[in-house]
Amino acid sequence: MLFSCLGVLILPFLICCECANILYVVPFTGKSHYIMLKPIGLELARRGHNVTVITGNKAEEDLPNYHQIMVEHKLIWDVLGIKRPNIFTMADISAEEFHDKILWSGGLAFTEVALQSPEVKQFLANNNSFDLVISEQFFQEATFALAHKYKAPLVLVTTYGNCMRHNILSRNPLQLATVLSEFLDVHDPTSFWGRLRNLYFTVYEFVWWKYWYLEKQEEFVRKYIPDLPQPVPSLYELQRDAALILINSHFSFEGPVAYLPNIVEVGGLHLTRSTSKLPTDLQKLLDDAKHGVVYVNFGSNVRSSEMPAEKKRAFLKVFSELKQTVFWKWEDDNLDIDAKNVVVRKWFPQKDILSHPNIKVFISHGGLIGTQEAIFHGVPLVGIPIYADQYNNLLQAEKLGFGKILQYRDINEDNLRKSLHEVLKDESFKQRAQEISARFKDRPLPALDTAMYWIEYVIRNKGADFIKNPAQELSWFANNMLDVYAFLLFVFIVSAYFVFIILRAVLGLFKTSNDRRQKVKKQ
Ligand SMILES: *[C@@H]1O[C@H](CO)[C@@H](O)[C@H](O)[C@H]1NC(C)=O
Ligand SMILES: *[C@@H]1O[C@H](CO)[C@@H](O)[C@H](O)[C@H]1NC(C)=O
Repeated sequence: MLFSCLGVLILPFLICCECANILYVVPFTGKSHYIMLKPIGLELARRGHNVTVITGNKAEEDLPNYHQIMVEHKLIWDVLGIKRPNIFTMADISAEEFHDKILWSGGLAFTEVALQSPEVKQFLANNNSFDLVISEQFFQEATFALAHKYKAPLVLVTTYGNCMRHNILSRNPLQLATVLSEFLDVHDPTSFWGRLRNLYFTVYEFVWWKYWYLEKQEEFVRKYIPDLPQPVPSLYELQRDAALILINSHFSFEGPVAYLPNIVEVGGLHLTRSTSKLPTDLQKLLDDAKHGVVYVNFGSNVRSSEMPAEKKRAFLKVFSELKQTVFWKWEDDNLDIDAKNVVVRKWFPQKDILSHPNIKVFISHGGLIGTQEAIFHGVPLVGIPIYADQYNNLLQAEKLGFGKILQYRDINEDNLRKSLHEVLKDESFKQRAQEISARFKDRPLPALDTAMYWIEYVIRNKGADFIKNPAQELSWFANNMLDVYAFLLFVFIVSAYFVFIILRAVLGLFKTSNDRRQKVKKQ
């Protein structure tokens, strides 16, 4: 149902012709995800749409047309029923293990928590209607069935970049030679072994995901989502039919990739309209840092304080020798430092810190959100990857010349000093960071507006079926031209066979006439 335009009343400068009832499903409680997802929901509301959000993080903003349905706030370790591990131990696990132990198990447990939350249950039991369902695409596939429940087009949003499963689903070219599976770390992706590993992992992930994991999500649909119109399409079909996929990347950083018109890059959208300011104490410290500031933060999940003692000592020693000020996110009260130049806080307003011109280098775990913040503000990186897409992000930063990877296992005083001093002293890192920053911002529309444009495009065009790949109508066989190749192979084999027969006959004739001639000579 479309209703009269609130947007015209609230924000007269916005032209909003068709304000829609939008359901925005972002139940995952992870903080870094919410940093990217929150601006989408809020901006839709600011533009006059009636937005209902199923979320694990409450927004403080109080807009009359922004309704929040709260998911019980549980951390992944609680739902998995295990003690929170030291995240640094994940630096060495394989992509397969990461999917099996964390993403798939965690995803299933989280989906169940979300669908069983009292507010969500209440909401699902009511009669609502929506023109559009937008959902995060992060291992909570059962919620995609809400698009079917409300007979609305589905838009997917990912907080990471390219998604291999969705390339397969939407029939986007896979480009396995140049595009890595999102959570696979490969040291030399375009080498023979790198490409083989990528192919292997893509097949492994897809098969387990489709035939094992998605089946479990289907059970949640049957169990927790009431009043579904029959017949219910499979979750696989629902994702394949998604109208639009917004991905958190931009070719200026990730490199160019071929995308269908319904896969749109919106990387960096949380930076588009940032108006927040630094707290005065940090502002003063930054302004006063004559030699600049080294900023250290391993993100919301990884805690510096959990580092083993000898690695902690290496950091402290190297930091205490610097003339720069050091800002270090440290999560407990047990750090005894005598170095005057080290400022420790449990939390830093990161994107505002990175925007300060005195920041010299960001020592980071390479999470995508933080990496984009560094790119946006032209800050070089020393990256210590731990899990998921972090290694790939940092590999890209290293390749583009504004970052340096230091593997977690290699951290000691010498290696840390060497990497840090290289990035601090070699001017080219800063220069490259600024060049990439300019490219990252050079777009026809800011990222958040791009997201808004395409979401509203789908609303205007009633699901915009015409921007989906027509290859979806074809079988897997036909889409990959296998029938045609098989036919050509057949024609080739048959022709080769005939050529062989003819040649043999001709040679045979030649041989017998030769033999005859020799017989005649002998006589
Ligand atoms: C907006 O959404 C809320 C909550 O989902 C719903 O109760 C309300 O009727 C909607 N408003 C309009 C004008 O459709
Ligand atoms: C929802 O609507 C259906 C039919 O339109 C009605 O039978 C049902 O009682 C309604 N449920 C609620 C909770 O209002």
